[in-house]
Amino acid sequence: EALTIFSPATVANVSCGFDVLGFCLDSIGDKMTIRKTSKKGIHITKIEGYDLPFEAEKNVAGVSALAMLKDAQPDFGFEIEIYKNIKPGSGIGSSSASAVGSVFAMNELLGRPYSKTQLTNFAMKGEALASQCEHADNIAPAIFGGFTLVKSVAPLDIIQLPTPKDLYVVIIHPQIEIKTSEARAILPKLVALQDAITQWSNVGSLVHALHTSDYNLMSKSLTDVIVEPHRSQLIPHFNTVRQTAITHGALGCGISGSGPSVFSLCHGKDVAQNVATAIENVYSKTAIPFEIYNSKIN
Ligand code: HSE
Repeated sequence: EALTIFSPATVANVSCGFDVLGFCLDSIGDKMTIRKTSKKGIHITKIEGYDLPFEAEKNVAGVSALAMLKDAQPDFGFEIEIYKNIKPGSGIGSSSASAVGSVFAMNELLGRPYSKTQLTNFAMKGEALASQCEHADNIAPAIFGGFTLVKSVAPLDIIQLPTPKDLYVVIIHPQIEIKTSEARAILPKLVALQDAITQWSNVGSLVHALHTSDYNLMSKSLTDVIVEPHRSQLIPHFNTVRQTAITHGALGCGISGSGPSVFSLCHGKDVAQNVATAIENVYSKTAIPFEIYNSKIN
């Protein structure tokens, strides 16, 4: 018995919602095949796309699978094949897609004993291996789909938010590496009250905008006065990308997760196409190689 699944890329933070908000991409992600085997344990038998460890204990998909196996205690095991499309370290939830894919498919093959929140808990064990801290803002949207809000991590409490039907995202991935642990280390431990006020007003209004499909309010809410001023310095030509995206009609533009990818949210497919072309034009004049992705949010 085997199952092949698509495990999506995700954008965490969504400007104002550091460690809390995230959304799921429709068409960018990994493929994984999970097979029940009489041999007990977790066995990673194939990895294509990127060079990742085969030992289950050292592999993100393996660690989350082992966490579920320990709890479920079935009298059989699982084989995992990973076809990785999302480049590790790109900032669009590569490790989360791996961590989620294995447990999502195993849950199906076990007859769905676990809730989405429980799956998020198992997947966080895998994510912790990659980013050295347990956060769920990439994992939750990969499991629940659309937009999610991590209300709390312990105990885990995920809120699924509505996704306006005409929302697209353009992602530019400059080919440099930023480690999540380093991008977290540069952040201040304390924030000014005035910045906190601005930020929570934006989180509140963004959530309201999602509920009411208010694209104008969404646009006014997509700013980050706490994290982005520090992290944007790590991303070459960040301000140029943002300026270009906004000039060409994007609702907002910010760092995807801990970077280096930068996302631009767009209302409608045509706007997204224009934004993608404009960003491509300006970035190809820089010396940094890059890739551009364009996806619906779903
Ligand atoms: N919320 C996390 C961060 C996401 O920004 O550090 C990392 O992928």
